[in-house]
Amino acid sequence: MKLDYSLVTRRTFLNTLFGGWLGTFLAGSLYAFFRFAFPTLGKEPDFVVLNPDDFLNIPANSTKPFAWGGKLGLIYKKQDNTLHALKGVCSHMECNVVYKPEEKKFYCPCHKGWFDENGKNIEGPPPKPLEFFDHRLEGDKLLVYRKGVQVELPTA
Ligand code: FES
Repeated sequence: MKLDYSLVTRRTFLNTLFGGWLGTFLAGSLYAFFRFAFPTLGKEPDFVVLNPDDFLNIPANSTKPFAWGGKLGLIYKKQDNTLHALKGVCSHMECNVVYKPEEKKFYCPCHKGWFDENGKNIEGPPPKPLEFFDHRLEGDKLLVYRKGVQVELPTA
């Protein structure tokens, strides 16, 4: 069957083409602006420097938050008083996890994911364990850093 006239007018076609181009241009410009204005947004550091006085004396079987870039970091003191540092972000879809001291497990409330006290994913959708960091005391600073990263602070 052949139509005697077109279903799309030239004007509609050109308006749609121009509108699509304009929308793409504006979205690209906005993205470039936000990347320029917030260059570290969504990026994570290789290390952070913390004040040990704020973290070394937390009670056993508890956590205390710190800023890991724009994400949640946790200093975690186990029941045996060993200190650990980890990213408090679920390996499923990056929700913040909470520590449940009565169960000695980390819980992700977004989709009911569970991690044991060593960060191993044990229940629910998380596909990988939590990310644990290395840490060390250097003078009056507590360094928390990704495993394998060499951190050298400048000497004053
Ligand atoms: S984001 Fe944590 S279980 Fe889905």
